[in-house]
Amino acid sequence: MDWGMANRMHRMFSPVSGNSVMLAVDHGYFMGPTRRLEDARATISPLLPHTDVLALTRGILRRCVEPTTSVPIMLRVSGGVTVLKEDLSHEEITTSMAEAARLNVAGVALSVFVGAPHEHESLVHLSRLVDEGETLGIPVMAITAVGKELEKRDARYLALACRVSAELGAHVVKTYYCDGFSKVVESCPVPIVVAGGPKFDSERQALELAHGAIEAGAHGIDMGRNIWQSDQPVAMLKALRAIVHEKATVREALEIWTGEKGRAVAAA
Ligand code: 5RP
Repeated sequence: MDWGMANRMHRMFSPVSGNSVMLAVDHGYFMGPTRRLEDARATISPLLPHTDVLALTRGILRRCVEPTTSVPIMLRVSGGVTVLKEDLSHEEITTSMAEAARLNVAGVALSVFVGAPHEHESLVHLSRLVDEGETLGIPVMAITAVGKELEKRDARYLALACRVSAELGAHVVKTYYCDGFSKVVESCPVPIVVAGGPKFDSERQALELAHGAIEAGAHGIDMGRNIWQSDQPVAMLKALRAIVHEKATVREALEIWTGEKGRAVAAA
């Protein structure tokens, strides 16, 4: 791996645990002002010190994050459709690699829509982005998006989508957790991080998801709503960090969550 590419990967994935806690705050690019992300700066600022990688769009990066930050940036570069449309797969590359380089990002991310109406375009976009990424030393993360068809998220489908992404050159793949997740990880030769999906009823469920993913061999999480839609986002992020970096059990993580939450409530 070229030095620049290797350096960017090492900035995102801990040399100690090999894993990464990515904070996803890119939802607005197709969902608009998502609940608790309306004021992106206010949501991001307290979480940033506990974040390994911040995943977002250039607009929110430029306007809501100070350029003094040392947190690596995973820049979303695909988009062009909103939640108001039925087919969410009609994306283009909306941010150039020149812009990504100007923003000094650690990586770029795009959605791939395997099996969707615009599967072909999204896979060609991935391949082209990888060509450019290899030239510039910028890793590319493929996000195996399912649009509104959340029921697609089973091991057979996700293993196919992750493997295709890796075959086309993705350096990291972000996907969903599912039953039989080790099947997804085992057949994907690049690091996998998992999204959280819509907010669960309880923090325990999100911690169980992260724990199951790490146990199965995922290299981290790229989670959003289950962190910043929690009533105590910092406590949630700290509990998740223990799972991702320290192999904490769900019970240990819940103890962290409860303790941090208690301290935050007492200090308020
Ligand atoms: C939006 C995304 C999100 O970053 C991804 O889904 C992770 O966030 P969440 O944990 O809220 O699902 O890719 O398209």
